[in-house]
Amino acid sequence: MEAILLYEGKAKKIFESDKQDEVIINFKDDATAFNAQKKDTFSEKGRVNLAFSRYFFDLLHENGIKTHVISFIDESSMRAKKVDIIPLEVVVRNFAAGSLCRRLGFEKGMALTPPLCEFYLKDDDLNDPILCREHIRYMNTATEEELAYMEQQALRINEIIYSFMDSKGITLVDHKLEFGKTLDGEIILADEISPDTCRFWVKGTMESLDKDVYREDKGDLVGSYKKLADILGLEL
Ligand code: TMP
Ligand code: ASP
Repeated sequence: MEAILLYEGKAKKIFESDKQDEVIINFKDDATAFNAQKKDTFSEKGRVNLAFSRYFFDLLHENGIKTHVISFIDESSMRAKKVDIIPLEVVVRNFAAGSLCRRLGFEKGMALTPPLCEFYLKDDDLNDPILCREHIRYMNTATEEELAYMEQQALRINEIIYSFMDSKGITLVDHKLEFGKTLDGEIILADEISPDTCRFWVKGTMESLDKDVYREDKGDLVGSYKKLADILGLEL
């Protein structure tokens, strides 16, 4: 029987599962940038991103972070808790790059100490605008307590991944997280963690091993992801 498609995003498809409180998430080979103004398909990308997500979610589980991941089914699908995604993209930045430099003129690579946590509205029609807490107050997206919880979790997740990657010779420049609410109302980390959603530089350089390779036309996207996997000793 064909599984029922619940939602299709730019990089993933979410299917109904045999359990009411679980879903199956399939990682696609598609890549988009600049709100899908740029769009391409790369063989193996879904499989590679799922392998990275598995790697980082395992690291977070070992460090006591609650996430939506239940298990991995095959090389491009995983089973996850069903959540209502909170329509906020939580971005944590350790160094200035990307939209922060474009918006504020910060020099690329400028250290942000302590790390900066920002919220963006997850809304393609509005081009995912940055939000301040005051804006969120007027939306039905999250309460002040929920925002504080997501910020605290995001900063903790940043600490865990930053120190781990640093020990491997890679700098976590910034990353985007999404949180969801389970059917019981608990807020947990959802979505994916991969070189699509993080900026990684080879330590001491600004060599990108992440989606900037595609955003900025800097070479072979999947090749760069594989180079990162090699450095981490992650078998793909
Ligand atoms: P930005 O500098 O373009 O705002 O991106 C910050 C981080 O968030 C970067 O690691 C890439 C990630 N990101 C996503 O995962 N999805 C998105 O839609 C955007 C805009 C950024
Ligand atoms: N994922 C986003 C998009 O296309 C943007 C990005 O990652 O830069 O639309």
